[in-house]
Amino acid sequence: MIEVQHLTKRYGPVTAVDDISFRVEQGEILGFLGPNGAGKTTTMRILTGYMPATDGKAIVAGFDVFAKPIDAKARTGYLPETPPLYPDMTVREYLTFVAKLKMPKKTTAADRRARVEAIMKKTFVDDMAARHCGKLSKGYRQRVGLAQALIHDPEVLILDEPTAGLDPKQIIETRDLVRSLKGDHTVVLSTHILPEVAQTCERVVIINKGRVVAVDTPENLTRQLRGSSSLYVQVDVTGGDAHATLRSVPGVTKVDVADRHEGFVGYELHAEQQRDVRRDVARAIVDRGMGLLEMRPMRMSLEDIFLQLTTNEQSAPGEAPTPAGQAAEGGSHA
Ligand SMILES: Nc1ncnc2c1ncn2[C@@H]1O[C@H](COP(=O)(O)OP(=O)(O)OP(=O)(O)O)[C@@H](O)[C@H]1O
Ligand SMILES: [Mg+2]
Repeated sequence: MIEVQHLTKRYGPVTAVDDISFRVEQGEILGFLGPNGAGKTTTMRILTGYMPATDGKAIVAGFDVFAKPIDAKARTGYLPETPPLYPDMTVREYLTFVAKLKMPKKTTAADRRARVEAIMKKTFVDDMAARHCGKLSKGYRQRVGLAQALIHDPEVLILDEPTAGLDPKQIIETRDLVRSLKGDHTVVLSTHILPEVAQTCERVVIINKGRVVAVDTPENLTRQLRGSSSLYVQVDVTGGDAHATLRSVPGVTKVDVADRHEGFVGYELHAEQQRDVRRDVARAIVDRGMGLLEMRPMRMSLEDIFLQLTTNEQSAPGEAPTPAGQAAEGGSHA
């Protein structure tokens, strides 16, 4: 449904997007994750035809966004970083205005009205229908922005930080709303909130300094980057030398103290890759007369992965990306 090939965008000397390629299948929700200034908004502006690329190609819903911008735009809903609201219009007036622009010309006024009412309910802004857009809170502005993106029921939705500025309850509502679009719509959403991609997206593209550093499911990313497998083991150390015991288990390469309490100690154990040392660890502790209180694998969180990929590029899986250099700083609101 979306195909991005070698997309590059330079602002003068700044390379904001540097040779990005990825695909989004029909009905999929793709998370676009990266730190400030990574190039998320720039990529989304290009995909929605708001800005030309310097190089490369983007196909949305079967149409090249540069060669066939009108066809591509008609099938795309876009929530920009700053929703384009008219301050003097009420929410209902504004959405009716957008509906006139975006819904097919043959739509009757009654159908249009019904659509506006339905979309206000769906995005939880119906209680503010008569409020002027200029007087809305940030959370409501954001959701009216989402309503205008959805109004013509587009195949493709490009959402630039859809939950930015929302309170926790609104975040959950918006997340559920985005999830409900799955299947019927193809969604790309950008965020720098990690739990968001794990909970909403099936696949994640992580970009940093304009370059793709990883593309995978949240689960695979976690697995792939776990590195040497590590275990957390909590031991009742009374009457034994737990550290030496753990160190002596075949396959264990490193033992660190993770936390220490009265009478029991938590250890972080590193083992050779692909080697399951759990049975031997349990036996060793119990045989030496100590108590095994807890044992669990220490999985890398998505947060750890993100930090690893965006701060230490050498350790990225696959090809090691070269930093794009200048495109590091934030300040994307030019
Ligand atoms: N109009 C512009 N002129 C010059 N440089 C720009 C312009 N817009 C963005 N940039 C630069 O391009 C890079 C990527 O910016 P972009 O807004 O795409 O990042 P982002 O990933 O959306 O960041 P954020 O998380 O802060 O929204 C940044 O270095 C930014 O300063
Ligand atoms: Mg942005």
